[in-house]
Amino acid sequence: MAFIPSIRRFQPALLAVAALSAASIAHAAPVALCAFPSSPTHDADLHVAAAVFKHLGLAYRQVDLSAELGKHATSEFAMTRLLQTRCSVFVGVPVGLTQSQFQQGVAVSAPYMTATFVKFRLAAPAAGSDGAGVAVAYKSPAQLIAAEEKDSDFDVENTTGDVINAVAAGKVGSGIVWYPSLVAYERAHSAVHFDVQPTRTNVSDWTLRFVAADAHRGLISRISTAIASLSASGALGGITSPWTLRPTAAEVDVDQQPHLQPAVYHPTADSGFRLVQVSDTEGAEHKADFAASQIVSGKKLYAADCAQCHGDAMQGRTAPALRGPGFAPATNSTMTIGGIDQYVTTNMPADKPGQLKPKEYADIMAYLLHANGYEPSGKVMTPDSASNDQSAFNSYVK
Ligand code: HEC
Repeated sequence: MAFIPSIRRFQPALLAVAALSAASIAHAAPVALCAFPSSPTHDADLHVAAAVFKHLGLAYRQVDLSAELGKHATSEFAMTRLLQTRCSVFVGVPVGLTQSQFQQGVAVSAPYMTATFVKFRLAAPAAGSDGAGVAVAYKSPAQLIAAEEKDSDFDVENTTGDVINAVAAGKVGSGIVWYPSLVAYERAHSAVHFDVQPTRTNVSDWTLRFVAADAHRGLISRISTAIASLSASGALGGITSPWTLRPTAAEVDVDQQPHLQPAVYHPTADSGFRLVQVSDTEGAEHKADFAASQIVSGKKLYAADCAQCHGDAMQGRTAPALRGPGFAPATNSTMTIGGIDQYVTTNMPADKPGQLKPKEYADIMAYLLHANGYEPSGKVMTPDSASNDQSAFNSYVK
């Protein structure tokens, strides 16, 4: 579940979302309700949906998605496709606080639950374990959260389940996961107990909501009204409280912060975190349109805004490498310079997407190109020239 759209999937996902607004699913008859079968909150999501539809006096039927979504925790791509075909509405869609490509073409309800990413360790670790290391799942917000822990050793696991198992087995001292995943684990393993503390970053808190295609905006607004009354009566709290860590008074109410826009957190079962060996740039025959001065400025900006996650030498740290074969092939890359620029200016830095100045992004692109073996043509790279550059982004370094 890539909470940040990956470069390779970004275009199709966008198209799918855009196409939704044109789709109209007639739903005179029961609302076709879909949920993510392998989400840790699956049961709670279905209870909430039952309560909401009962409150609205609406008939619904649950669509069985175990065949198509069983393997994936939550996939935004699958969801947008299903919203055009088999599902009128999805329940249990995790929405975070930072960015979203979800703003157009889909309607998102009020939240019915907020759950946070937590740091956890065994309540009674085995004698002799040194408690070192923080396990996080690849492509999860935990990677961003862990990046704020300056001096830790990371253990990047493929899935959230692997993270919890690694901590339970004493392989690492602690881990960072979404709290509901830990609740689900503790329910299935009654002998294991963890000490849990909430994390406090701007990607820590996630709300669960209903999502429908734009054509069902009316239904979504009725659902939001139902959520408000069920919340006021305490009915919602009864269903969701086991899955949420009691908030402390100091904690911010995310919905009181209108400047924070929702983001979609969509886990995948993808694996493959790699650390790539860094060597010096070789050859000088590959040119791109940027000026030498931009390399210097881009390097400073990279160190300040990107290195924390992608590594001082772009070798990859809690986020993927941005240089060498782990990032782009030496020939026939399917990524274009403009495509990467658009991705970076929209999604990066992952903890404050889109918030650098346009010129700063252009300088960072120049530095990124140089680090991958491109030499400056001398023609200044501007925000426009960067985003319109259709040439392939290859990496000429090992
Ligand atoms: C807080 C951590 C963080 C910071 C800071 C950050 N990134 Fe990222 N970045 C990520 C993560 C995590 C991913 C992987 C997203 C995915 O694949 O779903 C990523 C992905 C990328 C990718 C796509 C890599 C690929 O192979 O698909 C690029 C390019 C990128 N970042 C560039 C940047 C640049 C440039 C900056 C600084 C302006 C930056 N990032 C700052 C966390 C960060």
